[in-house]
Amino acid sequence: MSAVAAAEATWTTRHFLDVDQLSRSQLEATLNHAAELRERRSAGDLGESTSRLVGHTIGLAFYEPSTRTRVSFELAARELGATVVDLSVAGSSVAKGESLVDTMLTIERTGVQTVVLRHSAAGAPYLVARSTGLRVLNAGDGPHAHPTQALLDALTLRDALGGMLDGRSIAIVGDVAHSRVARSDLHALTRLGAQVILGGPPAWVAGFQHWPGVRVAASLRAALRDADAVMTLRVQLERAAGGGTGSLREYTRSWGLDDEGMSWARPGAPLLHPGPTNEGIELTAELAASERSLIGRQVTNGVAVRMAVLLLLAG
Ligand code: CP
Repeated sequence: MSAVAAAEATWTTRHFLDVDQLSRSQLEATLNHAAELRERRSAGDLGESTSRLVGHTIGLAFYEPSTRTRVSFELAARELGATVVDLSVAGSSVAKGESLVDTMLTIERTGVQTVVLRHSAAGAPYLVARSTGLRVLNAGDGPHAHPTQALLDALTLRDALGGMLDGRSIAIVGDVAHSRVARSDLHALTRLGAQVILGGPPAWVAGFQHWPGVRVAASLRAALRDADAVMTLRVQLERAAGGGTGSLREYTRSWGLDDEGMSWARPGAPLLHPGPTNEGIELTAELAASERSLIGRQVTNGVAVRMAVLLLLAG
């Protein structure tokens, strides 16, 4: 059975709201599917997949800024033959005060079948899934979840670490408390057998020591010791998580990643970052551009992962 057929056989869900709705075998099948699509796309041979979503209308509703997620969902949907409607909030009646649910019901009535939703409120995609007939894909809801980012992170890590994550130590450093990426990554990586070591100022990692498969480290050196891979998170300046300039400087001194910090991880351990990066705050520009950085690879994998998810939901 092809990776595509195997993945389709495992997906019965109508919405994709977070990775915690997927079992380990569903996660693995989805990553295999995405890897196959990535190879076929890079060879210019998507074959019959280019028409799989013909007749399907997908709305992109981004209530928060995005580059990677929005562009990769749009490319993925178009390359699979879907009609794509950009529901830019600034140009819609949302700017006149229309509620989220009313806006979603309106676009459903125009013929949109699937909505890719990014929203600043945790739970917004769940509300739309309950209140409308749309299929809902969560493209990031407040600090809660970012499931397709978790899939592309897992795919990137799997490739870099030889195919499986069982027994691997993945360090995630930074503003975990405000990070939807970290929360979804924790679900995906631990379900795939990895141990996750979290590092960051106490307020940013508080409570996570209770997650199965997760350990909280008290210093950057302790977080990176024996790490097979390192992910640093964006300090979310727009959510006021960074505090004043003084505390940002303190953060960089204690938790910012540079070449010396990376030397505490296992030799050759790759570096990931979901983007966009604050160079000079959570990592140096040199490290972001270094050979061990997989930041560009994560972005490229995002298109294949979103293709896989769109096909699985439509299938
Ligand atoms: N990683 C991520 O979600 O990036 P964007 O905000 O650019 O989509």
